[in-house]
Amino acid sequence: MKINVVKGTRDLGPKEQARYTSVIEKLLSVSYFYSYTHIETPIIEHANLYSRTVGDASDIVRKEMYTFKDKGNRLLVLRPEFTASIVRMFVNNKIHAQMDLPFKACYYGPIFRYERPQAGRYRQFYQFGVEAIGVDSPYVDAEVVSYGYFALQTLGIDDVILKINTLGDHKSRNEYKKVLKTFFASHIHNMCHDCNERLKTNPLRILDCKVPKDQLIIKDAPKIHEYLSKESQERFNKVTELLDRTNIPFEIDQTLVRGLDYYSEVVFEYHHFDDNGETLGALGAGGHYSDLVKELGGPDLPGIGLSFGVDRLVQVIHGDKDKEDYNPYTLFYLIPVGDVNLEDVYEVLTSLRHEGGFSLDMFNEKRPLKTLIRKAEKRNAKYLIFVGEEEIKNNTLTIKNMETQEQMVINREDYKQVIRSLFFSSLRDQ
Ligand code: HAM
Repeated sequence: MKINVVKGTRDLGPKEQARYTSVIEKLLSVSYFYSYTHIETPIIEHANLYSRTVGDASDIVRKEMYTFKDKGNRLLVLRPEFTASIVRMFVNNKIHAQMDLPFKACYYGPIFRYERPQAGRYRQFYQFGVEAIGVDSPYVDAEVVSYGYFALQTLGIDDVILKINTLGDHKSRNEYKKVLKTFFASHIHNMCHDCNERLKTNPLRILDCKVPKDQLIIKDAPKIHEYLSKESQERFNKVTELLDRTNIPFEIDQTLVRGLDYYSEVVFEYHHFDDNGETLGALGAGGHYSDLVKELGGPDLPGIGLSFGVDRLVQVIHGDKDKEDYNPYTLFYLIPVGDVNLEDVYEVLTSLRHEGGFSLDMFNEKRPLKTLIRKAEKRNAKYLIFVGEEEIKNNTLTIKNMETQEQMVINREDYKQVIRSLFFSSLRDQ
């Protein structure tokens, strides 16, 4: 019986996985430059972690969470984002009492959202992100925004549009919510069912609505900047000044409110459009959160962070996936020759692997030479290592360069040294 992958999820074959790994390695190195240390949190969390933080009115909590009961009757979810988990970890482990703040962490892993699958939108996707928790400063804000921009440049994604906005502090936002409520109250009968709900729970969420007829109304809604407190305005000005001074181009987008409830002050998104003006949606996004730590039982400390959608980054860098090649790359391929005892060859293979440090493989059954060489070619092997009775007797190896067809016999003890020099000369030739 053939069983398909679950809708909205994908297998990543060796070629595709190599692309993800390369992106992650680059993001980890940029994180290192910015002093973020790599951490990990569980994929399953208690459901109430997200209703209390991402927000009951958010699409994520209302419609998109994979929620289930475990055998102990606990209501759990597959994590729909990282930030709440990182903050939970910060609070549970009392990191504020042990570490110099801000706590600067980076993370990577799968995220699950029950969304409508389409290009760049999956039900299981991967995020790489950073959070800086514990210090309230526009410098920390600017640093996170700058990290994201530099990370995209490091990945070779240059033509990025950075959109930035502020949601202000409590005072500003409460004032703004009141004004929005009044504005939308007179239009709500023409708006979608979700917006009717949002008006009751959180009118800010209406600004996220993607329904075209609702967007016509939304575009005329009052803008947050008219209701900002002096402190929030000054803070936002300082962040944009720091971005200017470090040559990070940005656009202020007053309609940007983000779809999660925990944000306050600065919020931002990174966008990319291809040559045809098409976009997969934001490549990454983030913002400042004033109350999340307190909300989860910790001290009154703020944080700021951002997450990239790694699948979208891979797609932008590599375009549409070519046909997957499932043959992994093997640098050296060992071939038993003639009547040699297979156990002897297996022993050689294992000891070479343990001392060599390079990818080395072999087919563990006797086959005609031609078949085994064909197998090595399919693995894209650069070198063949022949081991026959002669080699076992003399404690030697016969190595063949597949490109030049040159062949040499070496002493078994010299393997490591010879292989290393072959490997590095093959790198130089590339
Ligand atoms: P988010 O905007 O929900 O923010 O997701 C961040 C990024 O994840 C998006 O910009 C997008 O690239 C990617 N993404 C979202 N949904 C999907 C999907 N269905 N398929 C593929 N990629 C997707 C957050 O998750 C916040 N936790 C970000 C943050 C960190 N805020 C503060 N710190």
